[in-house]
Amino acid sequence: MLSESIQQAINRQITYEFAASHAYMAMSAYFEAMALTGFAHWFRVQSEEEREHALRFFDYVNDRGGRVALGAIEEPQNEFASPLDAMEHALAHERRVTAAIHAIYALATQENDYPTISMLKWFVDEQVEEEKNAEEIIQHLKLVGSDGAGLLMLDQRLAEREDEEEE
Ligand code: FEO
Repeated sequence: MLSESIQQAINRQITYEFAASHAYMAMSAYFEAMALTGFAHWFRVQSEEEREHALRFFDYVNDRGGRVALGAIEEPQNEFASPLDAMEHALAHERRVTAAIHAIYALATQENDYPTISMLKWFVDEQVEEEKNAEEIIQHLKLVGSDGAGLLMLDQRLAEREDEEEE
């Protein structure tokens, strides 16, 4: 059985992950409108991953005999100043997600909730990967600068992303 405080924290996280999925689809649409279909694809896959994260938490609450309660999702940001601006927003979002996961981890540790600690380990590792990926694209965008050919090459590379989520 989940404690009330852990259940509330995970329910907030479920909504947060769905909100991330929503926000990344808005970024995908932004890149589609710029004909940067590789970036658009990358964000679509990212959006799908966020939905899978939400479902992982969703299933966990149910597995522990808890009650899932979803919150509202705000309208996401639809316009960005540049591809770099969009990626920087994505990275800032990932950093907030990391902080939220660490806060649940700390709470679970305080309460000696070992199953929650174990479940969260996958997310702790996943966040390292997610931040690294966003940081790498930001570095590449900075290198490319205003070089259109470089941007198109980066777009082609991002088009190759597959959904790498593992169970
Ligand atoms: Fe579900 Fe990108 O954190």
